[in-house]
Amino acid sequence: MDISESLQQAITQRIEQSEQQRITFAEFMEMALYQPQLGYYAAHSRTLGPQGDFITSPHMGHDFGELLAEQFADMWQALGQPAPFTLMEMGAGQGLVAADVLAHLQACYPDCFACLHYIVVEKSSTLKAEQQKRLSHWQSQGVALSWQDLSEVRCSTGAASPSHSITGCAFSNELVDAFPVHWVELRENTLREMWVGVSEEGFVPVLGELSTPQLQNYFDWLSIDLSGHPDGYRTEVNLAALDWLKAVSEKMSRGYVLTIDYGYTAQRYYAPARSQGTLQCYYRHGHHDDPFAHVGEQDITAHVDFTALERRGDEVGLTKVGFTQQGLFLMALGLSDRLSHRSNPQANQTATAKTIQAIMMRREALQQLISPLGLGNFGVLIQSKGLTPKEIARPLKGLTIPPMMSMGLKNELKGDGR
Ligand SMILES: C[S@@+](CC[C@H](N)C(=O)[O-])C[C@H]1O[C@@H](n2cnc3c(N)ncnc32)[C@H](O)[C@@H]1O
Repeated sequence: MDISESLQQAITQRIEQSEQQRITFAEFMEMALYQPQLGYYAAHSRTLGPQGDFITSPHMGHDFGELLAEQFADMWQALGQPAPFTLMEMGAGQGLVAADVLAHLQACYPDCFACLHYIVVEKSSTLKAEQQKRLSHWQSQGVALSWQDLSEVRCSTGAASPSHSITGCAFSNELVDAFPVHWVELRENTLREMWVGVSEEGFVPVLGELSTPQLQNYFDWLSIDLSGHPDGYRTEVNLAALDWLKAVSEKMSRGYVLTIDYGYTAQRYYAPARSQGTLQCYYRHGHHDDPFAHVGEQDITAHVDFTALERRGDEVGLTKVGFTQQGLFLMALGLSDRLSHRSNPQANQTATAKTIQAIMMRREALQQLISPLGLGNFGVLIQSKGLTPKEIARPLKGLTIPPMMSMGLKNELKGDGR
């Protein structure tokens, strides 16, 4: 029996042992992605990247991590150069961002680097092993780098209590979209839940009552009125994101929470026209909307409701600092300069087919990070905790508007002849 078959057997068993022969979609997604040894993220190391099923921003080169490091160095300044300064990366994938952040801070911000404590929170033991392999040389150089469970996170000073022990930034890229979601459907103006049952053909959706009143409360809490939505309207609710943000806030003493992901405000997410929700599955660089296909061999995601993160933040002690798009965020952090300078031939560089090709590829990678039709359209939410009024008033570099002429657009506009 292969891994996927073993996983299907485990899920089937869970369904058959349940009282009503069905489990919520959130339970199904949790098992499909994270069941120890069998789930998509638990069993396979080649899930992300060109050899896997999908790529994320750090696969575009070192720029994403390096520009994030620019933001972290700026946060360190904003917080008054604290030591230790903790970066807590949650859901670190292959450890690419961590590697780029550490290298850039060491090379460009040695004072900040000297204060750094880097914590990785990772659910998949397979990916954790890959991260540890990639980052082991930093540990052997004496960098304070550790892997911890979110519930037990402590900063390097060994604070007496794990609560409120972090001064710095807790951040994630494409983490929240990977949390298990509840799947709901509107029938005759009543919110119902899509459960998962099993038939001879495999796993099947089973419409039933809500597993928890929190699902209806979620829409009331966000002032989303579903009454005018079409019958059969389907969408998702990410309750796990709300618990996660509370847990993150509890760890923070002073600093920022930075969340990057694809998603919308609640009004856009739950617009009547988005009648089939945002559930997406990724398999070998293709995407489709059948979560019951390729069980354990495909990623399952749902877009992020950024309004819910903002509102939950308000409830758990986090203040919204700003919300922007990844394209603008990275441009403000210096991607514009990289586009106009570093991706052009250097004065002393001879133009060969190879150098020209390398320059074109680099430009393409940078463009992809900011493309409004792709990664550039991701949301970037920054929240803060425990800041003084002066610290709050200081604008963060990534949230400033990059001046037009430093955006590398001057030459682009000329070249376009517009
Ligand atoms: C889509 S991948 C993104 C990886 C990486 N941040 C990147 O941008 O390439 C999602 C990551 O989040 C991890 N993950 C999912 N749920 C998690 C949780 N509750 N706590 C920590 N890590 C989690 C997954 O194992 C995986 O490493």
